[in-house]
Amino acid sequence: MTGAGHLRTLAEVFPAGSRLGDPSLAVGRENELVDIVRTLQTPGLCPIILGPKGVGKTTLAWLAELAAKGSADVLDAVDAARYGQGDEEYYETFWVSCGQVVPADGPGLLGAIAEQLRRRHKQMVTSRLVAVEQSVNMTVGLTPKVEVSRKYGTPADTGEQPPSIEEEILELATELVAEGSPLLFVIDDLDMIADTQAFSAFLRMVSGISPTDLRFMLTGTAVWLGEVLADHWQLGRFVILIELGRMPDTDLLRMLDRGAVRLRELGLDVEFEPDLLPSLVTISAGFPSTAAQLARDSIRAAERMGQTLVTRRHLDTALRDLISLLQPAASMRRHA
Ligand SMILES: Nc1ncnc2c1ncn2[C@@H]1O[C@H](COP(=O)(O)OP(=O)(O)O)[C@@H](O)[C@H]1O
Ligand SMILES: [Mg+2]
Repeated sequence: MTGAGHLRTLAEVFPAGSRLGDPSLAVGRENELVDIVRTLQTPGLCPIILGPKGVGKTTLAWLAELAAKGSADVLDAVDAARYGQGDEEYYETFWVSCGQVVPADGPGLLGAIAEQLRRRHKQMVTSRLVAVEQSVNMTVGLTPKVEVSRKYGTPADTGEQPPSIEEEILELATELVAEGSPLLFVIDDLDMIADTQAFSAFLRMVSGISPTDLRFMLTGTAVWLGEVLADHWQLGRFVILIELGRMPDTDLLRMLDRGAVRLRELGLDVEFEPDLLPSLVTISAGFPSTAAQLARDSIRAAERMGQTLVTRRHLDTALRDLISLLQPAASMRRHA
């Protein structure tokens, strides 16, 4: 394997912050996943995953997204047959990372949601047009679709008031759902949005008027709802809190064992000294992000020394790197 391919493999197995390369590398969180699946099975309810940074919120939201799309692997893993997702319709899903929303406020977030729907809607219209072109005798079917695409194009040529962003989202969603599946938006890192008032009001409205077709799943780095959602007391009835705590050591160890096996399957020559992974788990204190980062950095430290057996010494190097990252001022002084 090339150096770059090698680094990519390590980053997919132990990503420490970004997405795992494959959902089968995920461990634990079964109860939370079942809670989310059940919440989405109940019309109008919206799950929100809260917890500290690095505890696994984005990963859990991703697994829940896969389950909502009907991924057999994820559903089997939580024994979803028992929870009745079986004959239900699955969702078409969309993902919004709030860290990339500009401006980072409620209207900006609604804008990002609308933009994804516009893009999807355009795709739908295009594929309809192609279908119509392919079948010569069906041109009658073209008329209403052209009007739809014009409505969201340039309002000036119709002389109509442009719809508000909320109306636009609802109209686009209604049309998309009429042609396909209900829609689920994952809104990741809601804590990055400064003023969620507009979004909160929108959530409340949607849960009333579109309780099954347009759904939301939220995550946020926070301890309580009020930190990430304005007017949360008005949302209490339908926003369902999924609190994500530290991961049990047994799950962290399973995660590292599974990762080590995968690395070997992918052709990396890596072994861990006995007892090294249990110490790594203890140091990680329930945070999968820390465990993934230390595992990855220990392996790289061993490689730099030309060794395939990862030992305590390499873990110590990885720990020093981690600590110096946490103390940028101190490391700058040292390098000065
Ligand atoms: N259930 C899990 N199974 C395996 N690894 C996980 C799991 N949850 C998190 N991780 C690891 O921890 C890292 C950080 O998780 P992430 O979901 O990004 O945390 P958060 O969103 O809470 O900050 C991920 O990149 C992954 O390496
Ligand atoms: Mg996250």
